[in-house]
Amino acid sequence: MSKLSNTSVLPNRAPAIWHPAFRRWTVAGVQLALLFAAATVLTPSHAAGATTAAAAAAAATPRTVPDTIAQRVLACTVCHGKDGRATNAGYFPRIAGKPAGYLYNQLRNFRDGRRTNPAMLHLVDHLSDAYLREMADYFASQDLPYPPPQTATAPAAVLQRAQALVQHGDTQRQIPACAQCHGSAMTGVLPAFPGLLGLPRDYLIGQLGAWQTDKRHAAAPDCMGQIAKRLTVDEVSAIATWLSSQTLPTQAHAAAASTTPLPVECGSGRQ
Ligand code: HEC
Ligand code: HEC
Repeated sequence: MSKLSNTSVLPNRAPAIWHPAFRRWTVAGVQLALLFAAATVLTPSHAAGATTAAAAAAAATPRTVPDTIAQRVLACTVCHGKDGRATNAGYFPRIAGKPAGYLYNQLRNFRDGRRTNPAMLHLVDHLSDAYLREMADYFASQDLPYPPPQTATAPAAVLQRAQALVQHGDTQRQIPACAQCHGSAMTGVLPAFPGLLGLPRDYLIGQLGAWQTDKRHAAAPDCMGQIAKRLTVDEVSAIATWLSSQTLPTQAHAAAASTTPLPVECGSGRQ
């Protein structure tokens, strides 16, 4: 049994959705990335519990890099790609250009235990709300091109069923259309509904699976938890395949905030 199953970056349902790209990560490599990342992000002024030794070391070493938010979050790009743009391969989600409110909610979710990922927890543990907000605003403001869509390998009938669920839902089973909350173009809705396009298939399956198995939670009432639990495993797979194979519209920004009543009440999304 490989030690890799213990590494912190593996998705919650690792065995089912593990992408071959992950095999490139060694335990030592991940640990090094985390050490580097934590040291860069947690500059003494932001780490609540910075030790005197660390502060002294920082004072003794003359700064050779500018202390900007762009410089400090460089560490995040070890996993999330240059400027947080990721790729459509593997598992790491893109963070560039997502609604600031959504990114902020996720950083707090990792820190406060509503979302489980040891790597992310390690990085944001002890960081203040204000600093999480600063990082969220920084990545939200990155306006970068998206990678090309993934190739869908499922039969046409399966993809049609997925598209129907995303765009129209299934009233009988109380599954609202995904587009009702994530935007008609599925590029998200301000301030905190994420877009569903430009994400790797494995990541989408991982997140819906995490909600189904109570490993991911959003602020109560957790509408996504309710919706994910109404989907079958095959539907999750089909929806992820269809979504990840869609080309993003030219205007890929999140839609303006709306006050139209939601089909299910959500504790996040509008805040
Ligand atoms: C060691 C690799 C690694 C590093 C370094 C890293 N992340 Fe992550 N991040 C992940 C993984 C893996 C996930 C997906 C976790 C999951 O399955 O829930 C993630 C998820 C996220 C999400 C949620 C994205 C979404 O669409 O819901 C945000 C926001 C995020 N990271 C921000 C950051 C920031 C900011 C930094 C730098 C402080 C950072 N990450 C550094 C691995 C990393
Ligand atoms: C009632 C509103 C609503 C509906 C309908 C809805 N979602 Fe969501 N979804 C949300 C909210 C709010 C979030 C952000 C949750 C959080 O803050 O963690 C979210 C987050 C997600 C995420 C996480 C994205 C990421 O980057 O990690 C995925 C995947 C997702 N939804 C898929 C779906 C799919 C597939 C459907 C349709 C079957 C759907 N959603 C229907 C409200 C909704």
